Amino acid sequence: MSGKEPFTLRWGILATGGIAKKFTTDLLIPPSTRSVTDIQHVLSAAASSTSVSRAQEFLTSVNAPASAKPHGSYAALAADPSVDIIYIATPHSHHYANARLCLEAGKSVLCEKPFTVNAAQAEVLVRIAREKGVFLMEAVWTRFFPIAREIRGFVAGGGLGEVKRVWADLSFWNDVEREFGEKGEHRMVNMDLAGGALLDLGIYSLTWIFQILYHIQPPSSRTAPITASAITKYHLTGCDETTSVLLTFPSTGAQGIATTSIRVSSAATSAPTDPVRIQGTHGDLTVAFPPYRPWQYTLSPAESASRGKLADWDAQTVEREIPGGGMGMFWEADECARCIRDGKLESEVMGWEESLEIMRVMDKVRKDGGVIYSDELESVKYP
Ligand SMILES: NC(=O)c1ccc[n+]([C@@H]2O[C@H](COP(=O)([O-])OP(=O)(O)OC[C@H]3O[C@@H](n4cnc5c(N)ncnc54)[C@H](OP(=O)(O)O)[C@@H]3O)[C@@H](O)[C@H]2O)c1
Repeated sequence: MSGKEPFTLRWGILATGGIAKKFTTDLLIPPSTRSVTDIQHVLSAAASSTSVSRAQEFLTSVNAPASAKPHGSYAALAADPSVDIIYIATPHSHHYANARLCLEAGKSVLCEKPFTVNAAQAEVLVRIAREKGVFLMEAVWTRFFPIAREIRGFVAGGGLGEVKRVWADLSFWNDVEREFGEKGEHRMVNMDLAGGALLDLGIYSLTWIFQILYHIQPPSSRTAPITASAITKYHLTGCDETTSVLLTFPSTGAQGIATTSIRVSSAATSAPTDPVRIQGTHGDLTVAFPPYRPWQYTLSPAESASRGKLADWDAQTVEREIPGGGMGMFWEADECARCIRDGKLESEVMGWEESLEIMRVMDKVRKDGGVIYSDELESVKYP
């Protein structure tokens, strides 16, 4: 920096669960540990839907500064003048109403994935953000990892030749009945909380396919994919347990294969295979597990006896450490700060139209597979 003060973004955290704690812990890591000096983050407040004491317990658990204020309702957080942006970390079922509350109060919003339950809800949020002139982004943290940017850059620069196919999986082996409750109460399988593999995990498979076959394409080639899909439902609740999506991108003819499951694993323990495979005419780039928190990729040139090797690179594995001892969620926070500093309402890395396009794919997959949530959850009615 040339002696200029860093831009300060003041955060409020909406919800006190698992990911809220991880994100906030990352937010409090000094940006200088990742060589960032142009912006900084301040944790101004957190809210629990249940009580001020729960919000305070949350702030204590993350070693928040004493100045951070606990709120006993989300409405109180949305009205807090010491907050610029609110991070929404409630179950998917609540994203629409919670994000809308904050946007209508004039706050910027970083909303956990999936953006909302369906595309219609996300469209309303985008409209309100535009009307209010505030920043809004879906928190797909994976996209902001420097290694993800590096992979996009390599592929966009023609490193793999023409990309013809991308496979991406995010699946976890779970003892579903036992881990997620015999009555299916856990948010992962609970239809009242918009549970199921697709919205929670499959979105990462889709984001890898979209990063390559949509995001890095020239704007005129960014067309909605044609999809076909299969869903196997979880017998206790009817949410999707194992889901596979085939996508064809009409402008290039490239294909995506996105899979997800809460019953089988992306990373078998004794012989793990890379869950993301980007296949071009010059070779493959595969990304190691976990695909949501990328740290390693491998390049494998295509070779044949007749044509030899077309790539100007050799087989290699590249690793990138996450600095600062965090999860890597701070990079999406840094993006929010820079966008707001620069007066942007949306990020170029995770823009509105792309979030909407992915939501539309998930809407169609759920519709075709018969996984529909209650009218209340699918509605754009508010409050
Ligand atoms: N980016 C990632 O890697 C990642 C990882 C995990 C989850 N997520 C996303 O983050 C969201 C939250 O996931 P999580 O694992 O943090 O969930 P969680 O541990 O169950 O926490 C959810 C929090 O939301 C609040 N909440 C408000 N109304 C609720 C309701 N009716 N039922 C349950 N909780 C309610 C609660 O906090 P208060 O009531 O105290 O406010 C609760 O602690 C999901 O949309 C998920 O997809 C993202």
